[in-house]
Amino acid sequence: MKKRRESGTIDFVADRHLLIVYHSQSGTTTRMADAVIRGATHADVSGVDVRVKSALDADAGDLLWADGFILGTPENFGYMSGAMKYFLDRVYYPCEGKLNGRPWALFVRAGNDGTGAISSIRRILTGLAVKEVQEPLLIKGDFDEARLADCEELGLTMAAGLEAGVF
Ligand SMILES: Cc1cc2nc3c(=O)[nH]c(=O)nc-3n(C[C@H](O)[C@H](O)[C@H](O)COP(=O)(O)O)c2cc1C
Repeated sequence: MKKRRESGTIDFVADRHLLIVYHSQSGTTTRMADAVIRGATHADVSGVDVRVKSALDADAGDLLWADGFILGTPENFGYMSGAMKYFLDRVYYPCEGKLNGRPWALFVRAGNDGTGAISSIRRILTGLAVKEVQEPLLIKGDFDEARLADCEELGLTMAAGLEAGVF
């Protein structure tokens, strides 16, 4: 961590920034997000600031702040959720050409499919020239509690990778 002095105070500021943006309507994607956040903020990783935003609130400033990001969405009507699409609609042009291959990863909750949410997000992010560094984490069908460990692992891997500068 880097030490910064501001107005006579000393802040300990992490060197790298990880943004987590997600949306959930009935709460299951939130459960995944909570586990991802637990992993990303694990005590073993000290050099990464983690910012968590709802897809309805996050904006281009958040994405430009981030050295890497994780998106989470349910699949609705064979696509990402409307809220996640709203986020990507708002950030696309302000961020186009400015993200320089930043690493990203995705988690998806779906009733029985999930492929439409994954492909729709990938298609848009291809245009932003960012780098998908992990396979999407998909929980579909009955909610399998055991998969929350995978969500935690996803958050930890992204944060640790950013800290170590491996992406
Ligand atoms: C309006 C709506 C559309 C949905 N469309 C799909 C779909 O196309 N494919 C799928 O696998 N599940 C679909 N589902 C199921 C959701 O993905 C599932 O209920 C998920 O757990 C919702 O996440 P949430 O609890 O975070 O809101 C749909 C659910 C809703 C409410």
